[in-house]
Amino acid sequence: MSIISSQTPDADTWSTSASNWWRQAAVYQIYPRSFADSNGDGIGDLNGITGKVPYLKSLGIDAVWLSPFYPSALADGGYDVDDYRDVDPRIGSLADFDKMTAALHAGGIKVIVDIVPNHSSNRHVWFQEALAAPKGSPARQRYHFRDGKGGKGELPPSDWTAAFGGPAWTQVDDGQWYLHTFTPEQPDWNWDNPEVREDFLKTLRFWADRGVDGFRVDVANLLVKDLRSELPSRQELDAMDRSSGTHPLMDRDEVHEIYAEWRKVFNEYDPPRFAVAEAWVETASRRAKYASPEGLGQAFSFDLLMADFNASQFRAIITDNLEQARLTGSTTTWVFSNHDVTRHATRYGLEPLNGRPGKPGVDWVKAGGPRQALDVEGGIRRAKAATLLMLALPGSAYLYQGEELGLHEVADIPADRRQDPSFFRGAEYDGLGRDGCRVPLPWEPSGPSFGFGANGAHLPQPDWFAGYAASTQEADNASTLNLYRKALALRHELQGAETLEWKDDGNEQVLEFVRPGGWHVVANFGTAAIELPEGKVLISSAGIESGKLPGEATAWFRA
Ligand code: NOJ
Ligand code: CA
Repeated sequence: MSIISSQTPDADTWSTSASNWWRQAAVYQIYPRSFADSNGDGIGDLNGITGKVPYLKSLGIDAVWLSPFYPSALADGGYDVDDYRDVDPRIGSLADFDKMTAALHAGGIKVIVDIVPNHSSNRHVWFQEALAAPKGSPARQRYHFRDGKGGKGELPPSDWTAAFGGPAWTQVDDGQWYLHTFTPEQPDWNWDNPEVREDFLKTLRFWADRGVDGFRVDVANLLVKDLRSELPSRQELDAMDRSSGTHPLMDRDEVHEIYAEWRKVFNEYDPPRFAVAEAWVETASRRAKYASPEGLGQAFSFDLLMADFNASQFRAIITDNLEQARLTGSTTTWVFSNHDVTRHATRYGLEPLNGRPGKPGVDWVKAGGPRQALDVEGGIRRAKAATLLMLALPGSAYLYQGEELGLHEVADIPADRRQDPSFFRGAEYDGLGRDGCRVPLPWEPSGPSFGFGANGAHLPQPDWFAGYAASTQEADNASTLNLYRKALALRHELQGAETLEWKDDGNEQVLEFVRPGGWHVVANFGTAAIELPEGKVLISSAGIESGKLPGEATAWFRA
């Protein structure tokens, strides 16, 4: 066994100081409307989260990130915000938010909220004001309004399409058009407008003053736009370089001026408030700009989420991401599942993409989720192995509600129960839309909504949820839930400096590395069992027999 590469050890990077809590945190994403319903109206709520603090504590996560809970007409699952400084009455109140935050903090769990700065909803008071105000008025300048083309301005200013399908411009009563990257109910803010900038600083302070520890920044790369008088066509746009910082619509260099201002606000607090960017940008070095300490400080990497369950893909991604983190001074982030993608238990139960273009799992969802094409148990086995590997990596681990139960994607939601705009607007965004990973959680094996609430659930839960209930899994030592709990508890004990040293045993299907303190990790991506190195096994994703790690399994041990 020889050492083939190693990170530059830097003992100072890892610190347990209060301001560095996020560097290697396990962050659990809650999609509030689908987590727990405290009042039986079918919609998850903040009191529901408060009621589950003991569960979250026993899971062993360091922080929760809440997807939007703000007032919203739900044109895009709450990412259409009516008021950034309030709570949707269907979900609770600001007092409930304070109660929830206090309970989470008392349980040692930090709170991260979602900030949606690229667009508001069309019900936001400033958009309503813009609609009522004349062309060219200051109220219109907070958004991107323009005259149309054609003799009477009857054509949109450009032929751009919106992310969930349809045109990116919508016409208003007086004939002008406004830009929306997503649905027509999500008008894009004009970030050249000083009032918009000020208002977001106010929002950040509002939540930070309420005790929020950090922010997840939605589509952080889209805010600044260069909308010159002559707009390029869709075809021209598609041909433009997206990684030079000069594309008219995305990842422009000037966006970092905004985050430098935000950083000043974060640093007004003690400890400084944390932020993580959602930025689907072209290259790791473009992503690094969002993770800089002068900016948001951390950025999601979706590389693992796009990969097959494959040793060489994982190895390349891990090596590359650790190197990028080392260059920025931030830490790496690892994500397998979130509210926008097919759950990873399902992705790993399907044919791997093997380099084919496309988003994993999407074709299957589009085909209506044929059960015969899905290896249900294999998907969970591989997901557990991958997760146990990921939880041993330096950096932050982002987990999505329900993955700790080994939940699969729900593919068979009837059309009349679906909510995701990408389904209705005919976009290719994610197959049949993203509702399949947003179905309310099964807490109990029976009952009207499997313990989610006293009555039904806002998205239909399939019968097979009965076999995944949290209460059943709590009682089962070998359950996915207990694997997550044990792994997260051990991770706390074992975690030290943000370094990793690869070992090579000559088997291409195996990834093996050591973290400081003798935390040794072996992940077997192949199907044949392998000899385990000498040492005490601390945890494994599958049973170890006669010193052998089965195929598609990960083990942590101490030499
Ligand atoms: C990314 C969010 O994760 C997604 O759910 C949302 O639809 C878009 N941004 C638009 O806000
Ligand atoms: Ca409710």
